[in-house]
Amino acid sequence: MILVFGSINVDLVARVATIPGPGKTVLAPSYERHFGGKGANQAVAAARLARPGQVVMAACVGDDAFGREAADNLTINGIATEFLRTVKSPTGCAFITVDAQAENAITVASGANLLARADDVPEALLSDATTLLLQMEVPFEQSLTLARRTRRAGGKVIWNCAPVPAGFEAADAATLLATSDVLIVNEHEAADIAAALGEPAANPSNLVRDPSTTCIVTAGAKGASAYFQGGEAIDVAAPLLKPVDTTGAGDTFVGAVAVALDEGFSVLDALDFGCRAAAQSCLAVGAQAGMPFRDSM
Ligand code: RIB
Repeated sequence: MILVFGSINVDLVARVATIPGPGKTVLAPSYERHFGGKGANQAVAAARLARPGQVVMAACVGDDAFGREAADNLTINGIATEFLRTVKSPTGCAFITVDAQAENAITVASGANLLARADDVPEALLSDATTLLLQMEVPFEQSLTLARRTRRAGGKVIWNCAPVPAGFEAADAATLLATSDVLIVNEHEAADIAAALGEPAANPSNLVRDPSTTCIVTAGAKGASAYFQGGEAIDVAAPLLKPVDTTGAGDTFVGAVAVALDEGFSVLDALDFGCRAAAQSCLAVGAQAGMPFRDSM
């Protein structure tokens, strides 16, 4: 069973020629609305690839139309939502600007996500059959508490350290690594964590401090690598596809890897599964629209 504890956002996307700098205004012809949030995206990616009934999400939404629609979207995707809590803050919202080169700039207004609590997850959900999937868009302390509870119950923790928060310190990074069975980051996040730890960024093996921890680093269209203690590493290339929208590709990779590891795949096969799923997800506009279903893999 995959338990996702994380954010739910609605993404408002404006396409512009150039992303504005400070003090500038640019016009976009219109805007699009998509379901998003790293937690919800990873839950949807996992649910489309896992056996039915294997994905549960614990999170917070506001008492507003965005929250109700985002919760319905999870249900439609086969995710158990009885541990969603409706709170007084507005549902999380991401303001995404995409330029002509498909580069983006994202501001996340966290809202309800800041009220997610580890206590929302009952002990009965945690066992040696639990794979907990975490990101960094809900309070770090709450994720840490749930990670520790999951490991005490014999479960596995997959932590996608995205985004790395401003002011992330050595102690935070060390605690993150100590509570992750699998850490998944992109190259920038790996460098930020290494910097917080005072380690050289060039070698992600330095992020593997425990023999049972695996560090997976994604490299976009190039694919992904896994690093193990002792310097061993494996690389997998991503399929060559012409992307339409890369928003949510990283989340698709994480959701797919979670399913693969939960089902007992090797790390090499999990990387391959993740890279293929992420490539497919880039063929439609919006974070979740292109996420593949198991029978198309
Ligand atoms: O990873 C993509 C997601 O990041 C978007 O859906 C947006 O909501 C932000 O959280």
